[in-house]
Amino acid sequence: MKPFPISNARSAILLLALASPLASAATAPSVPERIETLLRQMTLDEMVGQLTQYSGNWNATGPVMFKGNLKQDIRDGRVGSMLNVHGASSTRQYQEVAMQSRLKIPMLFAQDVIHGYKTTFPIPLAEAASWDLAAIERSARIAATEAAASGLHWTFAPMVDIARDPRWGRVMEGAGEDTYLGSKIAFARVKGFQGRQLGDTDAVMATAKHFAAYGAAVGGRDYNSVDMSERMLWETYLPPFKAALDAGAATFMNSFNDLNGIPASGSKYLQRDILKGQWGFTGIVVSDWGSIGEMVAHGYARDNRGAALAAITAGSDMDMESNAYRGNLAQLVADNKVPLALLDDAVRRVLRKKFELGLFDDPYRFSDPQREQTALNNPVHRQAARDMATKSIVLLKNSAKLLPLSKDLKTIAFIGPLVQAHKDNLGGWAVTLPGVDYSTFVVSQWDGLKNRLGSGTRLLYAKGSEIEGDDRSGFAQALEVARQADLVIVSVGERWNMSGEARSRASLRLPGVQEELVKALQASGKPLVVLLNAGRPLVFNWIAENVPTILYTWWLGSEAGNAIADVLTGDVNPSAKLTISFPRSEGQIPIYYNSFNTGRPGPSGVSSGYVSGYIDLAGTPQYPFGFGLSYTEFAYSDLKIDKSQLRGNDRLNVSFQLRNSGNYAGEEVVQLYLRDKTASVVRPLRELKDFAKIRLEPGQTRTVQFQIDREKLSFYNAQLQWAAEPGDFELMVGASAADIRLRTNFELTP
Ligand code: NOJ
Repeated sequence: MKPFPISNARSAILLLALASPLASAATAPSVPERIETLLRQMTLDEMVGQLTQYSGNWNATGPVMFKGNLKQDIRDGRVGSMLNVHGASSTRQYQEVAMQSRLKIPMLFAQDVIHGYKTTFPIPLAEAASWDLAAIERSARIAATEAAASGLHWTFAPMVDIARDPRWGRVMEGAGEDTYLGSKIAFARVKGFQGRQLGDTDAVMATAKHFAAYGAAVGGRDYNSVDMSERMLWETYLPPFKAALDAGAATFMNSFNDLNGIPASGSKYLQRDILKGQWGFTGIVVSDWGSIGEMVAHGYARDNRGAALAAITAGSDMDMESNAYRGNLAQLVADNKVPLALLDDAVRRVLRKKFELGLFDDPYRFSDPQREQTALNNPVHRQAARDMATKSIVLLKNSAKLLPLSKDLKTIAFIGPLVQAHKDNLGGWAVTLPGVDYSTFVVSQWDGLKNRLGSGTRLLYAKGSEIEGDDRSGFAQALEVARQADLVIVSVGERWNMSGEARSRASLRLPGVQEELVKALQASGKPLVVLLNAGRPLVFNWIAENVPTILYTWWLGSEAGNAIADVLTGDVNPSAKLTISFPRSEGQIPIYYNSFNTGRPGPSGVSSGYVSGYIDLAGTPQYPFGFGLSYTEFAYSDLKIDKSQLRGNDRLNVSFQLRNSGNYAGEEVVQLYLRDKTASVVRPLRELKDFAKIRLEPGQTRTVQFQIDREKLSFYNAQLQWAAEPGDFELMVGASAADIRLRTNFELTP
């Protein structure tokens, strides 16, 4: 292979590095020096290799483009990273091949570790409902500890896309509809994955994805176009990415969608101007699976060469599975279509991360079978997954106070297609490892409740129906079982793979005849508890209006059954609150709490007259953002602000009393919302600006305090500048976006 001559730019950087005081004082070369030394030795093909990522033959989420001899390519230095290779032994084997390459540059191993690795945690949307940032960080920390012990250096998480459309199957992967909460959760997840610092053998690189605005795909159809204003982009969709960056996210992934006509993978505006320019990101931008090549299908590039040119110019550093860089980038440089400096920059970014991870010192340091054995079988991880799962369950209705289950119940019927399911509890994007028997590893809802109830209560089972299909033949047995019971719990919902990537649904109703099954059980007259398992908000109006008790259990992971039993029995008092609005009908979508006021505000009920709304449906969601009940009640009182006028950088101190006025110890997520009453642009009806999760014993009262600073009053003004405008503000404290308990006003003076 012909070595490529050093470019002038490269020599200059090398000289700079050598001239630095550190370099002259230290004996060992610094990382920048080592990077430049390597770069000088690299051929163009080897440089492109560092920017190329291929999948092992597992979990393909798109067409596998590379058809050649992968190991030979690795040996030739043409592969910088692989995804979907995991396990201490497999990663070691592949790394050994990389170590046979001329320059012995180790590869990066990446994977979608979205909600746990072996120990599966609740899906991210469920975890978000906990509003418990420490627990969310801990969940990511454990996932990283297990993944890193399994040879992985990099997770493609967190997904920080704001999502307001539950038809989009990927709402399950995010934190919901709110930018403020989404940003806090993005920060926590990145911190969790990356731990104390990259280079520790329990830390993996996080990926803030999908940059950007992927959550706003038209009609909730996956991979679809996004058309939005600059204001919406900056105010609603970009902040969680910025928060991930502030937390130190080592990598970003671009997205499949076009944004206002430009595919994100080819968007210089997103990648070079905002991310690498204005925000100063120094890590790696990886494409999404095949998203560089897909610019051909978009009609943005004529062929793979054009796509490679657009992507590298726009700032996509690494090509995941398109085969676009491999086939074209070297030639594009040779043809003077791509400045070598662009490749230099991208390769430096990749090499820097490999140095930070310590792979040049020991390429196998993450592939340690003993550490893997210990990390993957740690009971502490399972306990954390159980805690997280209990924190994620949302109590939507408890009007007959059937929960917590009375200790006097002699016989309970546990009915439904999800009662004895295992894998369904894991939900989409769960890592399923070879050799793990998930029928024993995942605690089914049946096993969880049976173990908890012991022999004092008879637990009866009937499946009732399948998740899908129109077979009602199981209804009779379900009704017979219900007849024998004092109380019926029915567990229905989606199959694990009905939400997630490429799992958009036009109908959000319960699949199959499950709603009919619930109706039949309700008609039996027995007290009824419904468990709804899903990766998104479902539409279930009849149940919401007629069944007295509803728990939204999402997909809760390895410990689902135990966690559900904890909440049903009252060992844990539910405290989760929705982070995405639940529509009454697909026709309401998008429906979200922080919408603008209109010139003709509509009613909360059915609309009549010339106002905003529907003539055939209420204007409100079935369940609003921030909503979730507890077995106890909380009383809010005595709202105080320490001034009614703010000037300059004044801070407003807010306090109120929160009392547990019910009979159980419990936690309340108190939410603070602001409304900017008049501004140079129309502002939302309310915006979440702070929250706290407070635990109180029955009868206990606590003073809750918040502080409002100028930042919280700021927004993108008519000139798209981030600023606070003088005027009146309304401050609201509540138990959900639609359940405001306390209000006051203050003024920001000029
Ligand atoms: C496509 C998905 O959009 C992305 O989130 C994921 O990380 C990659 N596939 C790799 O599996």
